[in-house]
Amino acid sequence: MDLPLPFLLIFLGFLPSSAMSQGNISLGSSITATSNGSVWESASGDFAFGFKEITDGAFLLAVWFNKIPEKTIVWWANGGNLVQRGSKIQVTRDGRLVLSDPDGQQFSIAVAAGNNVSYAAMLDTGNFVLASENTVNLWQSFDQPTDTFLPTQQFIKDSRLLARFSVDNYTNGRFKFILQEDGNLVIYTTEYPLDSVSSSKNAYWASNTFGTGYQLMFNQSGIIYLIAQNKTILQTISSDTSSTANFYHRAVLDFDGVFRHYVYPKAGGSSSGEWQEAWSVSASIPSNICTAINALVGSGACGFNSLCQLGDDQRPKCQCPRGYSFLDPDNEMSGCIQDFESQSCIKNSQDKDNLFDIYEMENTDWPSSDYEKFVSVNEDWCRDSCLGDCFCAVAFFGDGNCWKKKLPLLNGRIDLSTGGKALIKYRVNNDTVPPGVENVIPNPKDSDDATLLLAGAVLFGSSVLLICLFLIYSYLKRTKSKVQPQSIQQPLATAPGMNLLRFTYKEIEEATNGFEEEIGMGAFATVYKGSIQFENRSLVAVKKLDKVVEADKEFKNEVSAIGRTNHKNLLQLLGFCNEGPHQLLVYEFMCNGSLADFLFGNSRPRWYQRMQIAFGTARGLCYMHEECSTQIIHCDIKPQNILLDDSFTPKIGDFGLAKLLKTDQTRTITNIRGTKGYVAPEWFKSMPITVKVDVYSFGVLLLELICCRKNFEQEAEDGNMVLTDWAFDCYKAGNFKVLVEDDEEARHDMVQVKRFVMIAIWCIQDDPSMRPTMKVVTQMLEGAFEVPTPPDPTSFITVI
Ligand SMILES: *[C@@H]1O[C@H](CO)[C@@H](O)[C@H](O)[C@H]1NC(C)=O
Ligand SMILES: *[C@@H]1O[C@H](CO)[C@@H](O)[C@H](O)[C@H]1NC(C)=O
Ligand SMILES: *[C@@H]1O[C@H](CO)[C@@H](O)[C@H](O)[C@H]1NC(C)=O
Ligand SMILES: *[C@@H]1O[C@H](CO)[C@@H](O)[C@H](O)[C@H]1NC(C)=O
Ligand SMILES: *[C@@H]1O[C@H](CO)[C@@H](O)[C@H](O)[C@H]1NC(C)=O
Ligand SMILES: *[C@@H]1O[C@H](CO)[C@@H](O)[C@H](O)[C@H]1NC(C)=O
Ligand SMILES: *[C@@H]1O[C@H](CO)[C@@H](O)[C@H](O)[C@H]1NC(C)=O
Repeated sequence: MDLPLPFLLIFLGFLPSSAMSQGNISLGSSITATSNGSVWESASGDFAFGFKEITDGAFLLAVWFNKIPEKTIVWWANGGNLVQRGSKIQVTRDGRLVLSDPDGQQFSIAVAAGNNVSYAAMLDTGNFVLASENTVNLWQSFDQPTDTFLPTQQFIKDSRLLARFSVDNYTNGRFKFILQEDGNLVIYTTEYPLDSVSSSKNAYWASNTFGTGYQLMFNQSGIIYLIAQNKTILQTISSDTSSTANFYHRAVLDFDGVFRHYVYPKAGGSSSGEWQEAWSVSASIPSNICTAINALVGSGACGFNSLCQLGDDQRPKCQCPRGYSFLDPDNEMSGCIQDFESQSCIKNSQDKDNLFDIYEMENTDWPSSDYEKFVSVNEDWCRDSCLGDCFCAVAFFGDGNCWKKKLPLLNGRIDLSTGGKALIKYRVNNDTVPPGVENVIPNPKDSDDATLLLAGAVLFGSSVLLICLFLIYSYLKRTKSKVQPQSIQQPLATAPGMNLLRFTYKEIEEATNGFEEEIGMGAFATVYKGSIQFENRSLVAVKKLDKVVEADKEFKNEVSAIGRTNHKNLLQLLGFCNEGPHQLLVYEFMCNGSLADFLFGNSRPRWYQRMQIAFGTARGLCYMHEECSTQIIHCDIKPQNILLDDSFTPKIGDFGLAKLLKTDQTRTITNIRGTKGYVAPEWFKSMPITVKVDVYSFGVLLLELICCRKNFEQEAEDGNMVLTDWAFDCYKAGNFKVLVEDDEEARHDMVQVKRFVMIAIWCIQDDPSMRPTMKVVTQMLEGAFEVPTPPDPTSFITVI
């Protein structure tokens, strides 16, 4: 046993000793597959091992989360094959785990080396083990993972996850996540139905840690990271720092090929039944699987001839083009077959051109199915050429080029990054299309509208809100029970399911030891370090407002608006004090200080860390602008206001204060709230202040992250003093390298550097309407689509 022992000691230490015997299963014990059959629970009851009924009378031998209604399965045996009612699993006297079917036929599920097994146990980590008398795990399910990776589990080289076939079919699917012998962590499509991969199958995601990757860890802080042999962290794969004390975590290579990190609030936090509990996704890799898979062979994300599009819920959706329908109507990933007879290649008078027609789909392509390319032609030519060619199933037209494509069509996708249009050939006047198939054929009108709407959303940044609605929903579901007071007075209920603590001034004085340790000072507040007795959090940052907000009610309203926000990239407000002249806000304490210290300190932070900080900050801002119940404009985004937690996850601080301090954000104002160097030009003009001021500041911040320097540097060479100007000059000259001089890591990633600089230039446009919304910025950062060429930031002079 590697890591779990110390962890177990801590974990079990909290439990009453009577419950512990639940964990040990003595030799000879068995359980039988029946609808009301018994299971082997872990000591805490969080996990259970046993037979889970999947369909009527058919059972899967599995481990699952036992305290939540979904009973989510995290491990299974027997290759995902179901067994009949009456089958039995036994820990034999000689220490093996044996499955027998009702006819008495036996299969070994686990055999430990040696003859030393003295008991089996379902551990509270989700690990099922066969252990020796001195509690050494001789066999453990953690070493034989199926599709799920749990906290405390470790991946050594050659460990892999294999996706299941579909939501409720646990046999092998088509995707594989593996830490290869060469140190690279990769996700592949397999040579289904085999689980092998070959070099002709490109990975669709990779950590690019050849030679250095050694182990993949999932620790109790909810962080999945890759380490080198000397234990240095090479890459953070996913991080959700919702405490494992209050949330269940799991990472799964889902059946759709996406590796997702999920969290679920543990029960007992709130008594109100109105907050439906559910797994929410905190990371998806890759962010868009539809465009990520580009292998030259294989059936891709959705199967042959099919089209993949990321849905509003950020999950891939498969659909068939016009004239095609699902091979297996119950499985949308099965691929599509033609409903019509293909065009004959034998010349006869009957098969005229007009028997076939073209159906157009914008932003649609099957990029790996070309057999012919024509340059400098027009669309009509492309269309006629495909109609007249019996080999042509689809043509793709874009930028004056025409590609002809053959069956089966591979890796189809509908995505704005595709551009151009697909011209799909189908047979007209053939009523052999079986009834019911029509509703899977995209209605031309609908799909055009959808494309337009999406294009509109991206171009004009409007109504992106819709796209994000599901996110609000999933965050709302997580807002409960994050902080639970142990020794403090009645919490002030400000929203269903959420508690903010109300402190007396005296309590805060005590907590901060008489405001002893000052850790920061702003224009309107001083910040002190304090310590308060919480369940699992003791250090806090106390912000003492200098300017007092007069109306008591207003203070409460604003504080509860801030308190209602819940996003991993926003600093969490824990409580407040509002007593006469004393107005204080109590936040979680961030042990890694501010981004300013990190970025402009002595040692240069790693390039990937800076990229992660850019992603996180963008997501936090996007949440404030578009996903909160009341929109929040920050007005003062700068590195001093971005704080870093113990895993360097960025958290935006001081948000909501602009409003609290009575700035009327929507109308023209004369007082400049922001900080010089980061403020958008509209503050100096008589223009309304909108969320776009934050986009501007983010652009400046992004350049600082790329270049590891302040926006304004007196000592810099002539012309380089102002980073925003210098960056645009470099962009115009096409010279990105000078921006990251002596930064080895960034210089090895110039494609990314260039992309980030272009995004930053979009953000710092003088004209606010030219700047993208934070949602679009986030998508561009994540590579959801190509970054268009940005104009000169000063080229649009707004006359008002
Ligand atoms: C399980 O259910 C069956 C009938 O469905 C019943 O005969 C049996 O006694 C039950 N066993 C237990 C342990 O409740
Ligand atoms: C089993 O136990 C014996 C004696 O306790 C020991 O010598 C042997 O190495 C053990 N075998 C394994 C595989 O652990
Ligand atoms: C399980 O059995 C082993 C060996 O008898 C013992 O050392 C251990 O304390 C037991 N664990 C629990 C949780 O009862
Ligand atoms: C699961 O999918 C495989 C592959 O299509 C199929 O052979 C098997 O019958 C399915 N199992 C169940 C229980 O549906
Ligand atoms: C640890 O190993 C990594 C990768 O091999 C290397 O880049 C790093 O410098 C090493 N760190 C130390 C402290 O040896
Ligand atoms: C998890 O890993 C992160 C990154 O190495 C580290 O900061 C954190 O302390 C770890 N948590 C635990 C509980 O080990
Ligand atoms: C439609 O296609 C089927 C073959 O799929 C063919 O047998 C039938 O004759 C066609 N009908 C018409 C009207 O072309």
